Order: sequence, then C-alpha cells, then structure tokens
Amino acid sequence: MAAKIVVVGSFNADLISYMARMPRPGETVPGDRFVTGAGGKGSNQAVAAARLGAEVTFIGRVGNDVFAELAYEIWDAEGVNRDFVSRDVEQATGVAPIMVDSRGENMIVVVLGANLRVQPGDIDAARDKIAAADVLIAQLEINLDMVAYALETAKKLGVTTILNPAPAAAIPADTIELADYLTPNETELETLSGGHGGDIKAAARGLLTRADQTAVVTLGSRGAQIVTGTETASVPTYAVDVVDTTGAGDAFNAGLAVALAEGLALADAVRFANATAALCVTKPGTARSTPYRGEVDELLRK
Ligand code: ATP
Ligand code: RIB
Repeated sequence: MAAKIVVVGSFNADLISYMARMPRPGETVPGDRFVTGAGGKGSNQAVAAARLGAEVTFIGRVGNDVFAELAYEIWDAEGVNRDFVSRDVEQATGVAPIMVDSRGENMIVVVLGANLRVQPGDIDAARDKIAAADVLIAQLEINLDMVAYALETAKKLGVTTILNPAPAAAIPADTIELADYLTPNETELETLSGGHGGDIKAAARGLLTRADQTAVVTLGSRGAQIVTGTETASVPTYAVDVVDTTGAGDAFNAGLAVALAEGLALADAVRFANATAALCVTKPGTARSTPYRGEVDELLRK
C-alpha cells in the first residue's frame, strides 16, 4: 500500500537566475539563464513525496493570481491532492527570487504572501486525511501558530510528525515538542540551539524535549547525522555532480517521510532520504529536480 503523507506548508513561485557568481552588494552581474518554476518548501516536499510513490495531500494557501496556476499545474501533474488548498483573495501567492552560481550554491529571498494566512479551518477541513496519514510534515514558511496547530492535530490523531525547521527561525519549545522528527540543516540547528560551536551531536541532542524524539541534521555533501536521546549515527550520502542544490533539503525530508511511512528502520530511511536528495542536486530547479522512485531505488542498488 502507498505511504500516506500530509504536507502542511508553503507554495512559492521560484524565479531562478543562474549566473557564474553572485553579485556583491551594489554590484550587477550578468545572468546565464532564467527559469520560473514551482517551489516553496511545503509544495516541493509534497511533489517529491508523490514522485516517490506516496499518496500526498497538501494543505496551504495560494493567492488569486497567475502564480497559483504554477502550483495547480505541478500538483495535478504529479498527483498531489489539492482539495485542501485555499485561494486567498487578500494576499498574493508566495514568490521566491533565487540566484544560483556555477557551483550550484544558492541565495533566496522569500515573500510569503498568502502562505502566512493559513487558518485553523484549513487544517480542520483535512482532519480525516490527517487521521489516515502515516506521516505529517510541516516547515516554517507558513505562520508559526499554524505549524504548531498542524503538528498538534496530527499528534492527537496518533500520526507521526516531522518538523523541518526551515528556513532558520527560533521556535517555541512547545512546538518542538510536537515533532517526532526534527530535520534542521546546520544553519537551522545553529539558530535553534543558539550556536553549536561545531558540536552538532550535542546541539542536536540539546533540542530534544522527550525520550522518543529524533533529530536528523542534514550536512550537505556529508550526508546526515542522526541523534536520539541515547544514540548517534552518521549516514554518508552519494558522491554526485552538483548542478543546483536548491531544494535538496526538501527532497531529503520527502524521502525521510516516505521511507518512515513505509516502515524502514531509521538509518535505512535516512539512507533513502540521502539518495533522494543527492539525485535532486544533479538537476536544476526545485520541485522539478526531485527524482522519481525508480531513480532512487536504482541509486540505492548501486
Ligand atoms: P537547500 O537549502 O539547498 O535545499 P539544505 O541546506 O536544507 O539544502 P543540506 O544539508 O545542504 O540541506 O542538504 C540536504 C541533503 O541533500 C543532504 O543531507 C544530502 O543528503 C543532500 N545533499 C546536499 N548537497 C549534496 C551534495 N553536494 N552531494 C550529495 N548530496 C547532497
Ligand atoms: O527549499 C527550497 C525552497 O525554498 C524554494 O523552492 C523557495 O521557494 C524557498 O521557499
């Protein structure tokens, strides 16, 4: 049976410019290529999970504008259920101007617009879907109180929760407590822990508020670090030719959610997440660069 995943999060229209190097403040540099694509951490994770074979429901808000069409287009093409997406009449669809340099590194500005207007009713409307889900994932590109409300709803219904605390922001301890899995990258870990001083394991352990909680810290080309209350494990990733790392974290979270929903042991689930994210960085774009299940299974077999 397919894994059932609910994603509560953002959609942004990604306005991506590719260039040899980023401009310094006050400088203008020539770009090589410009692409408008579907993005937003929530939507990227939903699309990636669907491509991995999960049955995915997305809960969020878009504006009443042309960028919302980009969202509908990708969700419909990839089979993401959008029955619980509201169209906001006051705020525009989120947008994210992105710069990517020749090393595949990125800089992003997010103007979240309608994403910040998710209401409790949007989440309540999808209560049956949440109750039937294996895993609910949330990130930090919607209003923080709704992140907490979504996680709380899932926990009350006995559903496993993943909180991807991205982009970096401080979060109340009672919200962190609602996450079964926390998946910061190094910067986000630093923000949450008040500076890790190079000791990632100690900082990640410091975030855990209960014995059955797990942190999985993503470390870019170094893979990921698992930290529970009692154990730690480092899971290396795959060596690939990097084209664009944008969305790597989203692919990772989708892979982790699907693998956990399918019942994989934690280390195997992180290996699956690494494979999903490693394939993502080999292609340009965000949601559209996430791999299909067959590609991930093939990489894992190698
Ligand atoms: P982004 O913000 O670019 O989406 P992130 O900063 O949230 O990414 P990272 O820790 O950089 O997250 O990367 C997430 C995961 O993507 C890593 O744990 C790893 O599995 C994979 N990954 C990232 N960069 C590389 C790379 N250069 N080679 C192979 N895998 C990578
Ligand atoms: O994680 C990548 C995403 O972050 C992009 O798609 C962009 O929209 C920003 O939200």
